[in-house]
Amino acid sequence: MPNRAWTRLTLRRPDDWHLHLRDGAMLRAVAPHSARDFGRAIIMPNLVPPVVTMAQAAAYRDRIREALPPGSRFEPLMTLYLTEATDPDDVARAYLSGTAQAVKLYPAGATTNSHAGVRDLGKVRPVLERMAEIGMTLCIHGEVVDPDVDIFDREAVFIDRVLKPLRRRVPDLRIVLEHVTTQDGVDFVRDQPRNVAATITTHHLVINRNAILAGGIRPHYYCLPVAKREAHRIALVQAAVSGDERFFLGTDSAPHLDQAKLQPCGCAGCFTAPVTLPILAEVFEAAEALDKLESFVSLNGPRYYGLPPNDDRVTLVRGEAWTAPPAILTDDGPVTVFDPGFPLHWRLEDQAAA
Ligand code: DOR
Ligand code: ZN
Repeated sequence: MPNRAWTRLTLRRPDDWHLHLRDGAMLRAVAPHSARDFGRAIIMPNLVPPVVTMAQAAAYRDRIREALPPGSRFEPLMTLYLTEATDPDDVARAYLSGTAQAVKLYPAGATTNSHAGVRDLGKVRPVLERMAEIGMTLCIHGEVVDPDVDIFDREAVFIDRVLKPLRRRVPDLRIVLEHVTTQDGVDFVRDQPRNVAATITTHHLVINRNAILAGGIRPHYYCLPVAKREAHRIALVQAAVSGDERFFLGTDSAPHLDQAKLQPCGCAGCFTAPVTLPILAEVFEAAEALDKLESFVSLNGPRYYGLPPNDDRVTLVRGEAWTAPPAILTDDGPVTVFDPGFPLHWRLEDQAAA
């Protein structure tokens, strides 16, 4: 039966391999949305102050668990924020004890709360070598911060200036190039014989840079890395629907209060967690690739991280068009939910009756 005619789709429960849950009131408001649809998520450590040590990761994991609905089986997989003072022994202990799954590299200044990140990769070489020895993954925000580099070129330049040399120096290091946004990023990952994979976000599969800038400025579509031109979006869709095991979902769902987005200098981030699976079903359906959705959202990620896929399942059901609620409420104010700009037809089955 052609994919387009499918009206039900049962998948292993998906995971989110790149998620911002924040802390406090925001954490309490957003965590249930991810916990409803996803089995596990790689949790970003860019809090204020950042989650640098094993002890901080364990404490943050406890706060996340407290924010989950009663009975939730959602499993936060923690990351450590890499700084030039990070202790390789602490990283190894965190990994080998199961407290942290990965380390996150933010080039200092690249994005939200990245100022404590890395300026000189040479300084973190002992950490990276230890990670390579024990098989721990480095998640990379792949953008240069050089102000002379055009913001639309920052990923491609990062690949040439930083990632290729890093691959040569520490070839055994397992890398996830996160939220890849360009054909260059897709090609780089495809060219690597081993130890490199990439996450792709929900929003980068759906919007190009026109969504942010054409016909008026739309802050809710502004994120980092910034969405690129349409040819790059198409390359991302092709990678996602290809079934290639090296590409998997990392939503980068990054909630900010509307009052922080709607500013002369607004924050970067799209809040996609509540609508990701229905949006992805539309994207895969349009590409006649619904049969590849499970690989992208539920199988490729755990395989790369050496974990089993989730043992329970979710069912997506196609029905009447619906639109997501425009915002969720936190104790500190509203957070606008990502609007894909097209009607949704798919819902998770247990929501279908709601
Ligand atoms: O758009 C983004 N928002 N990109 C990032 O890299 C960070 C994130 C955030 O934390 O808000
Ligand atoms: Zn992120």
